[in-house]
Amino acid sequence: MASDAVEEMLITARSMKKMYGPHLALDDINLDIPHGAIGILGPNGAGKSTFFKCLLGLIKTTSGTGRVLGHDIRTEGHLIRSKIGYMPEYDSLDPGLSAIDQVRYSGELLGMNPDAATQRAHEVLQYVGLKDQRYRKIETFSTGMKQAAKLACALIHDPEILICDEPTNGLDQRAREFMLQTLRKTVMEGGRSVLMSSHVMDDVETVCDRIVMIHKGKIVVHRSIDDMVKQVEKEIEISVWGGASQMESELSSRGLSVRRMGRNMRVTKVDDNTYTEILSSAAKAGVQVRKMTEYEPDLEDIFLLIMDRLGEEVRDTDELMTTGHTGDDK
Ligand SMILES: Nc1ncnc2c1ncn2[C@@H]1O[C@H](COP(=O)(O)OP(=O)(O)OP(=O)(O)O)[C@@H](O)[C@H]1O
Ligand SMILES: [Mg+2]
Repeated sequence: MASDAVEEMLITARSMKKMYGPHLALDDINLDIPHGAIGILGPNGAGKSTFFKCLLGLIKTTSGTGRVLGHDIRTEGHLIRSKIGYMPEYDSLDPGLSAIDQVRYSGELLGMNPDAATQRAHEVLQYVGLKDQRYRKIETFSTGMKQAAKLACALIHDPEILICDEPTNGLDQRAREFMLQTLRKTVMEGGRSVLMSSHVMDDVETVCDRIVMIHKGKIVVHRSIDDMVKQVEKEIEISVWGGASQMESELSSRGLSVRRMGRNMRVTKVDDNTYTEILSSAAKAGVQVRKMTEYEPDLEDIFLLIMDRLGEEVRDTDELMTTGHTGDDK
């Protein structure tokens, strides 16, 4: 039973570590990632690209184990790469080639016969929106077109999994939207799994149903987006006139969690009664409440909040996601 469950996973990692000389880039990664669309989020230097390269068997892990579609990342890299489409973060294209030749060449490198690779190159270039530009040399391409061409190369052999390292990097709003919609279509209509990295929650939210957050080589959050949304606490933002400090103490003394931002404060909403508590706190503190609005942080806010808190120290996921946390309790 247990081994079946492991086989069903897209990716498993156990105590995975990667050192670059003395530098620890991946620190004890343990993950079970199911099929679907997964966003790997983290700031610059978090370890996202390193994690992808380890999964692809392009670099060796220092210790620990990992499996992709049941294959060992240490010994079956070649097999793994034949089942994965990889869109690297760096520019992997040959500027002197036309898009069609570049994409066909990627297929041939993966062992496809030239006719099949040519036919498929036409299809995937159309899929990524480069049908009319397919005979142009890549050196004439914009950043958006290059990203699309990289995606076409990754899709050439119709892989089961796509690994896209910052696919929206350098894209303007239109190109970004198109890239994200193409990835979404690959998951929803194509039934493929997609692993994509980004440092923007909005990107992964469009495509993915799960997120993994990495910070300094450690996994700090691994959840479905639905669960994250459910767990988010609403806050009531109030603006007070006079005695903000008294108001803050009064609210805290009633067990309410308060974040002070100058004259504005955000109070974690426990239930509808929180409104009454705020008004009676104001009466007791002798302050006037000038504005009271409910505020629901979006996922981008949560991500930034979590990353801010990690600047202090790594805490457990539940604590990280509690918006009312002030940083000095516990
Ligand atoms: N070849 C290398 N040699 C030495 N250190 C490296 C090497 N590659 C990455 N690192 C270091 O490992 C850490 C993780 O790097 P990695 O590129 O995986 O991060 P990332 O999350 O992809 O960042 P970014 O968002 O900037 O792409 C960083 O501190 C980086 O400087
Ligand atoms: Mg990277």
